[in-house]
Amino acid sequence: MFGEKFGEAWRLRYGSESPLSGDEADQLARFLTHRSVRSYSDREISRDVIAGLVAAAQSAATSSNLQMWSVVSVQDYARRKEIAKLCADQNQIHDASWFFAFCVDLERIARAADAVGENPTALDSAEFYTMGVVDAALAAERMVCAAESMGIAGCYIGALRNDVYAVKELLGLPKRTIGIFGLCLGYPAEGVGAEIKPRLNQDSVWFEEVYDLERGLGDYDERMVEFYESQGMNPGVNWSQRSGRRVSGELGGRKAIRGFLAEQGLDLR
Ligand SMILES: Cc1cc2nc3c(=O)[nH]c(=O)nc-3n(C[C@H](O)[C@H](O)[C@H](O)COP(=O)(O)O)c2cc1C
Repeated sequence: MFGEKFGEAWRLRYGSESPLSGDEADQLARFLTHRSVRSYSDREISRDVIAGLVAAAQSAATSSNLQMWSVVSVQDYARRKEIAKLCADQNQIHDASWFFAFCVDLERIARAADAVGENPTALDSAEFYTMGVVDAALAAERMVCAAESMGIAGCYIGALRNDVYAVKELLGLPKRTIGIFGLCLGYPAEGVGAEIKPRLNQDSVWFEEVYDLERGLGDYDERMVEFYESQGMNPGVNWSQRSGRRVSGELGGRKAIRGFLAEQGLDLR
């Protein structure tokens, strides 16, 4: 889909030369060339392909094989418009061939436990909620990797959590579930301008044996200023400034998440 070779993708991620080449590097190229794509062609992804992608998602590892996630696809035109509205009306949600709402789902396992005479009291805990979030994320990312290997691209939608109550209503979610993020999938639009986005230096995220607070960000802020400028975004603003703003801002509708979880029977004790 996006044709960068491993070495080039590495340079775009880190601004340095890759230590790896040859077959191993070739195999990894498809993972390093990921980018979020927000503009799609008219080509539809067939239902059979989607079934294959759901199988890929279900093939992800899952805590104790509990499979504590579900996904709701939203294809009906009016309902897609509705869900887009709940997610800040982002254009890619309207445009995508398929839209999925990934959910933490502890209700299925609660019912299974009930049915065999167990009392699923442990579900009402930070531990099980965390397991559900991890399961949902692993499944979705496996789906995205599979999709990207077929020339399909996507964009996650965290804005699915902007109004968790309305999402519950629209999707008919039962208790012990929450819509945790959305995912748009489609074939990229011709000439779509999505570029590989630089990431933190490996030194900043990969510690050996013990965490090292002194590592800092290396040259990442400078690299991101260049990237943003190349994209015509936020001239002169670096990653720390942009991210700092993101974490110091108000939570808006997402403030409701904690109360919603409690009402859903996912009180994080
Ligand atoms: C859980 C999650 C939620 C996201 N939510 C949104 C979103 O609501 N809208 C959007 O345009 N991108 C969203 N993104 C995409 C990120 O902005 C993107 O992954 C990040 O900037 C890195 O860019 P890249 O994916 O192109 O490498 C989300 C990504 C994740 C993992």
